[in-house]
Amino acid sequence: MKKISLKKNITILGIESSCDETSASIVTENKEVLSNVIYSQITEHRSFGGVVPEIAARAHLEKIDYVVKKAISEAGIDISEVSAIAGTCGPGLIGGVIVGATFAKSLSMALSVPFIAINHIEAHAISVRLTENIEFPYLLMLASGGHCQICIVYSINNFEVIGKTLDDSVGESFDKVAKMLNLGYPGGPIIEKTSKNGNSKRFALPLPLCHKKSCDFSFSGLKTAVRIISEKSISNQLKIDLCASFQKAVIDVMTYKIDIAIQTCEKNNIPLTGVVIAGGVAANQSIRQALQKLCYGKNMLFFSPPISYCTDNAAMVAWLGVEKYKQQQFNDLNFQPRPRWPLNNN
Ligand code: KG4
Ligand code: ZN
Repeated sequence: MKKISLKKNITILGIESSCDETSASIVTENKEVLSNVIYSQITEHRSFGGVVPEIAARAHLEKIDYVVKKAISEAGIDISEVSAIAGTCGPGLIGGVIVGATFAKSLSMALSVPFIAINHIEAHAISVRLTENIEFPYLLMLASGGHCQICIVYSINNFEVIGKTLDDSVGESFDKVAKMLNLGYPGGPIIEKTSKNGNSKRFALPLPLCHKKSCDFSFSGLKTAVRIISEKSISNQLKIDLCASFQKAVIDVMTYKIDIAIQTCEKNNIPLTGVVIAGGVAANQSIRQALQKLCYGKNMLFFSPPISYCTDNAAMVAWLGVEKYKQQQFNDLNFQPRPRWPLNNN
């Protein structure tokens, strides 16, 4: 094998393909995002009402070459200036993960630069540090389509999960409720938009696990309550009100759980630098505002990445690559892509 070369100025090419976005990005150690190209597969999956893994894998394969080339040309750099290739290696839909991970490994081999295997959840968890000067430890609400957990982030490889969902993730429940109400896919942004015209007090929906002082979530009861109402023939306005009531219930659950999590950290003398929400659901303005209000009321700083870095993107992958490069955390080319990959398991 050729000798790997280490460069002084860190410039990372990140590649993301774990779900339905093919993305490549060039990020420097100075937090400059030189490019962040995202090809969304929404049109490929829309008629199925959700992501079809086989279609996703083929679409990644078709687009990855173009997306990576575009990221390099938009960044205005020569590929020889790249210090390392960071590729998402899981968790996610394995066909797509294999496409991105193999592409990343091949490039690292061809350029004789290190390969960095990125955990997609860890990339979401650290993404806020690309745009904010937030130090560890911080409290993180990770809310995406595949994951829903509250953790304390002590460092890039050290997470303590203090709460997680017992069934669906938040994003999944947004998507399923949108499907039940025939609103389309992906559900989160559609429900957010629809809710703006609705009365969130119209339906008193259950707030699962909010009688308990635990940080765990459950969304199945809430989802069932929405389904039971939606099966009655309701007017269009009531449907919109149901959407708003659902979103309000999710917000109430999340603020309650973050409140408990902050209290837990206080009790255990964990000196939090702030509270962060990240992942696709963090793109929801009403959720961001509610959590911000809660935190400010408790004299706690609140952060969330810009919306374009909340949903899947390769800038967060490249940024975690920068953080790992600084600590010389590189991976072998025989690193196996992982459909499941819990945090703290490098
Ligand atoms: O992080 P992400 O792009 O992919 C995963 O890693 O899963 O998250 C996608 C999820 C989807 O469930 C989508 O409906 C949800 O994030 N989402 C939102 C919003 N934008 C995306 N949920 C609520 N409000 C939004 N504005
Ligand atoms: Zn994601």
